[in-house]
Amino acid sequence: MKAIRLLIQGSRVFAVTTFVSLAVSAVAAPVADPQLEKVIGQGKDAFTHNTFNGNGRVCQTCHLSGGMAPGKLPDGKVIPSLANAAAVFPLFKPRQGKVVTLPDQIRNCVEGALEGKAPAYGSDELNALVVYVTSLSQGKPIDMGGKPQ
Ligand code: HEC
Repeated sequence: MKAIRLLIQGSRVFAVTTFVSLAVSAVAAPVADPQLEKVIGQGKDAFTHNTFNGNGRVCQTCHLSGGMAPGKLPDGKVIPSLANAAAVFPLFKPRQGKVVTLPDQIRNCVEGALEGKAPAYGSDELNALVVYVTSLSQGKPIDMGGKPQ
């Protein structure tokens, strides 16, 4: 009897801990490397504060909640979140008639949406934004050319 009760309790504990760890992994995907964490933080800071000497907008003006929530254009039009952006890039942009990478897209948003000076390819500034936006897709399966969430 006692053994059976222990067994039942044991599996209940297992079920609860499994549920909790699944719930936690759905919310926050941990990144192990502190150096990587540091650059993610720098990118997040740029995403929420850097105007790139443009019209005063920052990335978060349109990509709300650090890019995790659906975005909103200044005219109120809703745009997809960046929650899986790094997983769906590179993708073909019919308007540009070519395949666009994540760094290309970020530079396009700096020049178009912020009317700012886009950081150079390979620069720490652009890399930090790429690293931050990529961190939002942590754990998402690669789905090149797929639909944004
Ligand atoms: C004025 C609003 C606005 C601002 C500010 C803005 N963006 Fe965008 N962003 C957009 C729009 C609109 C799209 C979709 C464009 C398209 O499909 O060509 C987009 C698309 C993107 C995408 C691709 C999303 C996907 O899944 O297709 C990324 C990544 C992105 N922006 C990053 C940034 C970053 C980083 C900044 C800051 C440097 C920024 N954006 C600033 C409006 C904005």
